[in-house]
Amino acid sequence: MTAAENPWGWFLGYLLLGVTGSLAFLDGGYIINGEDCNPHSQPWQAALFLEDDFFCGGVLVHPQWVLSAAHCFQNSYTIGLGLHSLEPDQEPGSQMIEAGLSIQHPEYNKPSMANDLMLIKLKESASLSDNIRNISIVSQCPTPGDSCLVSGWGRLASGGLPRVLQCVNISVASEEVCKARYGPVYHPSMLCAGGGQDRKDSCHGDSGGPLVCHGSLQGLVSFGQPPCGQPNVPGVYTNLCKFSDWIQTTIQAS
Ligand SMILES: *[C@@H]1O[C@H](CO)[C@@H](O)[C@H](O)[C@H]1NC(C)=O
Ligand SMILES: *[C@@H]1O[C@H](CO)[C@@H](O)[C@H](O)[C@H]1NC(C)=O
Repeated sequence: MTAAENPWGWFLGYLLLGVTGSLAFLDGGYIINGEDCNPHSQPWQAALFLEDDFFCGGVLVHPQWVLSAAHCFQNSYTIGLGLHSLEPDQEPGSQMIEAGLSIQHPEYNKPSMANDLMLIKLKESASLSDNIRNISIVSQCPTPGDSCLVSGWGRLASGGLPRVLQCVNISVASEEVCKARYGPVYHPSMLCAGGGQDRKDSCHGDSGGPLVCHGSLQGLVSFGQPPCGQPNVPGVYTNLCKFSDWIQTTIQAS
C-alpha cells in the first residue's frame, strides 16, 4: 500500500447524479491509495475507448466477450486488452479490437442503479496470451470480509490519467452495512466492498472494471457516494453471482 499521505487524488471524470442526489456512477472512477499493479497481473482487465478516449473499464470473460457496467454503454467502442499503460503503441502484445454488439441487462436501472452490467461482443476473438486471458465468473455470492482486488485507470484530480493500471485490495462488506449505507437504493444486484477505517483500501477502479475475489470475478465497479475513501462508506459493485444464468445464456445465444 502506498502511504496515506501520497497525494493521489483519483477523481471522477464526470458524475451522473443518482436518485438521492449524492450517489454517482463512477465513469472514469478512481482508486484511492492503490498502487501500480504488477504489469499484466490482471490479464482480464479491459479498457473501453470511444475514439481514442478511455472512458470505462471492462473484463474479458470469454475470448470474444467483455463484461462491463451497463452505465458505460455507448454505440461503439474499441476495446483495449493486454494494456498496462493506456498507450497501446507502447504495449507490446496488446490488442485493440472493435466491439460489435453490446447488450445491456434488460433490467438495468429498474429500480434505479440496479442490474448495472452489460456484455460486449468483440468483432473478432482476442488471441489469448500471458498478458490477455479471460477470467471465470463466480457462481457463489461473496462472504463479508472476503479480500478482493479492484483495478482501474481512474482519472486524476487534474483530469489526467494514471500512467499505469492501479490495484487496491478491499474487503467485502455485509449486506446489512450495504443496506444501511445506501438505503432505498440498495438492491440484491449490488454488493458493497471497501469502507475500511484506514482509508487505504476503500475505493473504486473504473466503472465496469473487475473486483476479483479468490481468483474469480465477483463484481464490477458500479457507483459510490463521493468523495471516495471515506471510512465506513463502501463502494457499490454489481453482484455477479446473481447473473450467472443471464451471462451464460446471452453468450450462448449470440
Ligand atoms: C475462457 O473462455 C473459454 C471459452 O468460453 C472457456 O472454455 C474457459 O474456461 C475460460 N477460461 C476461464 C479461466 O474462465
Ligand atoms: C493484495 O493482497 C494480496 C494477498 O494478500 C497481495 O499479494 C497483493 O500484493 C495485494 N495487492 C495490493 C495492490 O495491495
